[in-house]
Amino acid sequence: MAYKITVIPGDGIGQEITDSAVEVLKAADKKFNLGLEFDYHDAGGTAYDKFGTPLPQETIDACKAADGVLFGAVGGDKWDKVDPAKRPEKAILGLRKALGLYANLRPVKVADALVEYSPLKPELVKGVDLVIVRELIGGIYFGEKCESEQHNGAERAWDLENYSVPEVERIANLAFETAKLRRGKVTSVDKSNVLATSRLWRRTVAKVAENYPEVECNNLYVDNCAMQIAVNPTQFDVIVTGNLFGDILSDEAAVVGGSIGMLPSASIGECTSLYEPIHGSAPDIAGQGIANPIGTILSAAMLLRYSLHEEAAADAIEAAVDKALGEGYRTPDLWKEGFTKVNTSEITKIISERV
Ligand code: NAD
Ligand code: IPM
Ligand code: MN
Repeated sequence: MAYKITVIPGDGIGQEITDSAVEVLKAADKKFNLGLEFDYHDAGGTAYDKFGTPLPQETIDACKAADGVLFGAVGGDKWDKVDPAKRPEKAILGLRKALGLYANLRPVKVADALVEYSPLKPELVKGVDLVIVRELIGGIYFGEKCESEQHNGAERAWDLENYSVPEVERIANLAFETAKLRRGKVTSVDKSNVLATSRLWRRTVAKVAENYPEVECNNLYVDNCAMQIAVNPTQFDVIVTGNLFGDILSDEAAVVGGSIGMLPSASIGECTSLYEPIHGSAPDIAGQGIANPIGTILSAAMLLRYSLHEEAAADAIEAAVDKALGEGYRTPDLWKEGFTKVNTSEITKIISERV
């Protein structure tokens, strides 16, 4: 049986990093005889330039028909002035909504070889192994919004945040189920000292927690959580939070491991799951062949594990990444004296050979 993987490179470094992940997937396919088939579709600014829309219907249809979606990144200064409804970022937001991808899992694990690359002290970072469970299709991202209106003689804009009990219940259930398979701790992050949506969030998470007596549950305000990630990241197992807080905290948590280029993610929900690195299209380094593809390669490994249930192949890719890092190969974002500096295609080849 063949597996169909829809690949959406997108914009900026999206092309380079998805090419790299596909090359590693092909190495895994060769070794484990998986029967992978790839089909490519447009989204983001690239799609806007071609079709006048960042998310063509045929891209959505292809994702729905696939066994898994591998997504690069979208966005760039070039499209900053287009109609907000047609911005490249609408492609990933629209896909998440169209596929019902309500949960985004962002695992942060610091490989021993990278402990000294963290901006934090090695003793704080050693052993970090946490996962951010971010609600992905609700909250302020998808509430009613107004780009511009006149109010009391001044121009203003607004975005509404709302969360319903069922929306919080389903993400909380997933967080507790995830914790059961890990170290059994959930930290729920909100701003319930100020926001009504956060108070509903905290109440609902507490109710869900009653069904999981074996899982320890605590609450943190988001401002404190941001600080705790910097001062004591090993305290965390599963962090569950809303869409906006999850976006911000995951960039912070990513860099604990040395570079945002390393962090993969899985978005799961009602239909095909989608896998993407957490970083963006990195316009400042796009086209130079120096982007770190590891976040995308590890996203591909998550696709094999969660969507195709090809555990051995996923393990092999993750082990190959660890091996390449252990042997001292580094893309420029992680390079320092004494290590071997490699570009995107070189690290890809090195990882592929070790799969
Ligand atoms: P970014 O993540 O693209 O880049 C932030 C910094 O990290 C840059 O200096 C960049 O060079 C570096 N970086 C990111 N990924 C890297 C990698 N793989 N290897 C080496 N260095 C890497 O964030 P930004 O600059 O705020 O946003 C750029 C564009 O990307 C914007 O249009 C934004 O909306 C979009 N974006 C898209 C996604 C997505 O498609 N899922 C995610 C985040 C941002
Ligand atoms: C991410 C990105 C997206 C988000 C943008 C590009 C819409 O920052 O995947 O983290 O905010 O969710
Ligand atoms: Mn983000």
